[in-house]
Amino acid sequence: MLSSDPSPARQATYDLVVQQLIPGYASLARLSVSLLSSSPLASGEGAAVLVAGCGTGAELLEADAQRPDWRLTAIDPSTEMLAVAQQRLRDRGTIDWHCTTVEALGADARFDGALSVLVLQSLPDDGTKLSFLTALARSLRPGGQLVLVDLMRPERSPLSAQVAEAWQGFQRASGVVGEGVDLTGQIQGFHPIGIARLTALVEAAGLSDPAPFFQALDFQGFLLQRRA
Ligand SMILES: C[S@@+](CC[C@H](N)C(=O)[O-])C[C@H]1O[C@@H](n2cnc3c(N)ncnc32)[C@H](O)[C@@H]1O
Repeated sequence: MLSSDPSPARQATYDLVVQQLIPGYASLARLSVSLLSSSPLASGEGAAVLVAGCGTGAELLEADAQRPDWRLTAIDPSTEMLAVAQQRLRDRGTIDWHCTTVEALGADARFDGALSVLVLQSLPDDGTKLSFLTALARSLRPGGQLVLVDLMRPERSPLSAQVAEAWQGFQRASGVVGEGVDLTGQIQGFHPIGIARLTALVEAAGLSDPAPFFQALDFQGFLLQRRA
């Protein structure tokens, strides 16, 4: 049972800021759900789907709209975020809610598919990212697919400064006041990795090579599959 009150201000703040920061965020959950919905296992009627790091519920709302037949499990270690998601999905009575991390969930081969949007980026690469990905892989049935979206470490090029300036411009045009987030600097509390490191981690976790399906600046989406 979750005790904290969903705060409308907190929900509004998160949902506004994330759209001001990430070009395409508004359609990201829609695309992610649509992609998983076409996967070999999760395409089936009544498939069991894990939303790992559900936050305020963006992927859950979209899953409910596109695939009301899915049996959803939603997890997030933040009582505040989870309470907001529960409030928004209150009419959908059948979601299995857990206030915990993927690592602590201990779900072995239970799910036909999983979504993890903007979670891995905040975990340090000191074994924590690998534990998270290993737990996600283990939670899937063999052949189950994972949709993973995260901020990746930028590939540097002579034109990187212009791209970084464009992100600042996007934030200003979206109404961000103050300095916003700087693509060229370290983003506090984030631990982005490059594609080579991600490929090594998912391989160690028991997942296929990542297949890219989305990119806006350094926010990238990948489709992965648990190896048999
Ligand atoms: C930036 S929010 C993204 C929320 C949502 N997926 C979205 O796209 O708006 C990241 C969420 O991941 C949750 N989180 C952090 N570590 C986690 C873990 N190990 N397992 C599951 N969720 C985690 C945080 O509590 C937070 O709510």
